[in-house]
Parts: sequence; C-alpha cells; structure tokens
Amino acid sequence: MGTYDVIIIGSGPGGYVSAIRCAQLGMKTAIVEKYNTLGGTCLNVGCIPSKALLDSSEHFFNAKHTFKEHGIDLQELTANMEQMIQRKNDVVSQTCSGVKFLMDKNKIDVHYGLGSFVDKQTVLVSAADGSKTTLTAKNIVIATGSKPNFFPGMEPDKKRIITSTEALNMKEIPKKMLVIGAGVIGLELGSVFSRLGSEIEVIEFAATLLPTMDGTIGKEFSKILKKEGFKFQMEHRVQNVVNKGKSVVVTALNKKEETVTFEADYCLVAVGRKAYTEGLNLANAGLTANNRGQVEVNENLQTAVPTIFAIGDVVRGAMLAHKAEEEGVFVAEFLAGQKPHINYNLIPGVVYTWPEVAAVGKTEEEIKAMGIEYKVGSFPIKALGRARASMDTAGLIKIIADKKTDEVLGVHMIAPRAADLIMEAVVAMEYRASAEDIVRICHPHPTYSEAMKEAAMAATDNRAMHI
Ligand code: FAD
Ligand code: NAI
Repeated sequence: MGTYDVIIIGSGPGGYVSAIRCAQLGMKTAIVEKYNTLGGTCLNVGCIPSKALLDSSEHFFNAKHTFKEHGIDLQELTANMEQMIQRKNDVVSQTCSGVKFLMDKNKIDVHYGLGSFVDKQTVLVSAADGSKTTLTAKNIVIATGSKPNFFPGMEPDKKRIITSTEALNMKEIPKKMLVIGAGVIGLELGSVFSRLGSEIEVIEFAATLLPTMDGTIGKEFSKILKKEGFKFQMEHRVQNVVNKGKSVVVTALNKKEETVTFEADYCLVAVGRKAYTEGLNLANAGLTANNRGQVEVNENLQTAVPTIFAIGDVVRGAMLAHKAEEEGVFVAEFLAGQKPHINYNLIPGVVYTWPEVAAVGKTEEEIKAMGIEYKVGSFPIKALGRARASMDTAGLIKIIADKKTDEVLGVHMIAPRAADLIMEAVVAMEYRASAEDIVRICHPHPTYSEAMKEAAMAATDNRAMHI
C-alpha cells in the first residue's frame, strides 16, 4: 500500500501539471493513469495529434495552391497519408514520453491502471494485467477528463461513423466526409481533410458556425471556409446516421422541418464532449456526478468532500487544456496554503485552422445582453503589408471596449497566427488596459500584431490609420 499527500487520478494536462506543482511544493505525490501512456486526451488523441495533422495538411495545401504564386514550381505532389500519420504518432509518442520524464524528474510515482474510490481517502488501482494496488492519501484530485459525446441515432461505429479519435488515425483520404457539428473539432479536422482534397459538408444545428464565439467571427469565418471548399448545412437537426457498408447516410430535418439526406464515405460526429467518471466508483467516496456527468466543485475546486478536488474537463467550464492546467496548479497551491486565483473570463479560446481563430473576454452578444454601453473597433488583415507579403490576407481583429471607460472587454480575431496574437489581448485585459493603452504601445513593423494596434485605434476614437 502506498501512502501519499496527494493522489491524482488522470494524467491529462490537468492531472500531470497538478502533480508537478504538488511535487514542487513538497507534497508526496502519485498519479494514476488507466492507459499505458501519460498525457490524457490532449497529448494522445486531442490537441497535439490534431495540430500535427493540421500542420502537415497546411504544408500540402500551400504546396498545391500558393507555392506557384510565390515562384516555387513543383512537378508532382501527392499526400502520403501513412507518413503523415506516422509523423503524427512520433510527435505524440515523444510528447507523452516527455511527461513520463517530468514525472520521474519530480519524483512523482506513476501507477498505471484504472483508479477507483474505495473510500474518501483510498484509491484502488486495477492494472491491465489484473494486479491491484491500494493507495491512500490525505487529498485526492479527480482529473479524469472527457470523452466524445453523441446523441441517439448518431452512435459512432468507429468505422465509417467516427469520432475525432478515429479521424486522427485515418488510413485513407476520404473522397467526401460529412461532419456533424460546426464547432472546434468539426472545423479543425474538417480543415485537415479539406486541405488534403476531401469534400467536406458540415451539418450544424445552430444558425452560425462556432456558435459560442462572437457572431462576427462565425459569419466571417464561414465565408473563408466556403472559399476553401467547405459546404455548410446550417440549422439542420440530425435524426440518424447509418453505415451502408461503403458509404454513410445522414438524415436530418432542415429549418422547414423537411427530411433531407446526405451521403459520404465517412461521417465525423463532433457534437461536443462529455465529462468522464466511469469506473471511478464516486459513490464509495460519497460523491455523485450531476446530470451532465460532471463532478460538482466549489470556487476552490473542492467537491462535496472537501479533501477531494476535481479539475479540467470533468468539471464545469471550458473544455480546454490550458484551463485544466490552471486548475491543476490552483489545487496544488491551495493545498500548500497559498491563495491562488484563476480569471475564468480571460481563458483564451483558439481554433487552429488557417487563418486561425482566437478570442478572449466577452462576445458582442454577451456585452449587449449585459446592458453595457460599448464601442467596437475592427481592422481587416488584408490592410497589413505583412499579410500581403505572406499572402495571408483573410480575417480581421475586432476589439470591444466599454464606451465610458475605454476598458477592453473582448477581443475576437481571425488572423494568421491568431493563436499567438491573442496573448497580447489576454495580457492587456489582465491588467485592465483601455483600448488607448494598446494604441500607445509600439508594435513592430511589419507584423500581424499591427492589426491589434489598428483595431484598438478604431475602438478608441475611430482613428485607424491604414484603412
Ligand atoms: P484528459 O486530457 O481527458 O485526461 C484525463 C485522463 O484521465 C485520461 O488520460 C484518462 O485515460 C484518465 N482516466 C480517466 N478515468 C480514469 C480512471 N478511473 N483511472 C485512471 N485514469 C483515468 N484543448 C486545447 O486547449 N487546445 C487544443 O488545441 C485542443 N485540441 C483538441 C483536439 C481534439 C481532437 C480533442 C478531442 C480535444 C482537444 N482539446 C484541446 C481539448 C483538450 O484535449 C482537453 O480540454 C484536455 O485534454 C482536458 O484535460 P484533462 O486533464 O481534464 O483531461
Ligand atoms: P463544440 O461544442 O465546439 O461544437 C459542437 C457543435 O455541434 C456545436 O456547434 C453544436 O451546435 C453542434 N451540434 C450539437 N448537436 C448537434 C446536432 N444534433 N446536429 C448538428 N449539430 C449539432 O464541440 P466539439 O467540436 O466536439 O469539441 C469538443 C470540445 O473539445 C470543445 O469543448 C472544445 O473546447 C474542445 N476542443 C478544443 C480545441 C481547441 O481548443 N482548439 C480543438 C478541439 C476540441
């Protein structure tokens, strides 16, 4: 039996980062992971492999469509799916080994096997070989993450009706792929296959794509993706998905309540993810999951049992790796008697398409609903010299500021390298900057970041210079 200060169940970005911070703060720490690689969804079947394939497919797309204009002529070009997947697997395995290295470096005990509660302070680890180990700790952190969600009628068979996990391991480039859900996964993985030559048709329940983001972004981004070849069927309610052997057929109701069908060789179901607590035996610790499958926590991330914490995708809030990491650090520092803080309003969201989409703070719709008087400054990416040089002219940056105080309330962008550009907005907003504060910061020329300054000028008093 092992005795610890903290046991963390789940080794995703929430769990492994929490383990490192606990160890840094002097706690004897163990981590339990049911699979034989560490890193969770993010490293194995999420953030890292999807970005690896997004990068490979973007190179292919550029070689096919933009190199010629840059003066680079290619004779023959083919996408080698097997090699793309192999490179992605290598990236994943290097990154996962990196987590094991960090566990060893920080003297964190790793126990491979399914973790389940015996009682409030005891976890049973059941390994794949049938062996069982019992661990006890003063504190336990549930970091068991999430799994793909689906609704009745669209159950993935993992052959032709697939989730993101199978889409990241395709053996062939589909001729046509239907995507249910115009959210982050649908658009990122749809982009991978669209760039490689697949026809992508997205079937979405809502009226705009990326429905939780600012309305301007959804509208603008729809135009960009349509130019790239995406087809969108908005306001369609999927009824069922059937594998017909060599094809898959999706039946949906359109907004006139008519039944329509779509056919393709694959259908990617990307309608969200659900918290994962199966096998944990929460009841043995006196806990239950709520009706969304989540473990409920208070502002200190404590469950109904104050010595048991929960973090990341298994609790409320954005299902993002960096949010899980912040919560992991929060719990460690709270246990060490510190006073940690997370600003949930300033967790940036990024969609790693090209151009990238990124946002932080409130959307215009949210600000309107809150009754705040606001002003908006926008700047189109095409007006930047840097964008013309790189031929990345699509997109815009939109800054929303308080009409009276000029404080920046939300920043929304579609831009080359938006994933990195958004950090200027996050830092500015963390320090409660006004739009004019951003205007008065010297931005290097020529860079995409100049669009941030110009949008801030537009928001301050409509004085953008380059439009
Ligand atoms: P997870 O990463 O899900 O880890 C939970 C771990 O717990 C898993 O390893 C699981 O095996 C283990 N576990 C579960 N139950 C038990 C048990 N009983 N015993 C032992 N172990 C257990 N987010 C971003 O921020 N950026 C991105 O670019 C991004 N891209 C994504 C792309 C895809 C295709 C997907 C699916 C997700 C993506 N996400 C991205 C979301 C991100 O992966 C999650 O938000 C993040 O992994 C959540 O971290 P977590 O630690 O809460 O849980
Ligand atoms: P999502 O919540 O982003 O999008 C799901 C979409 O499906 C929504 O637009 C929704 O309206 C639509 N939908 C729901 N039911 C439907 C139905 N019956 N018919 C048609 N459309 C329907 O979820 P997604 O894309 O599956 O991603 C899951 C999670 O993973 C997200 O919360 C996201 O935060 C995370 N993720 C993050 C990434 C990133 O940060 N770059 C990348 C990939 C995933």
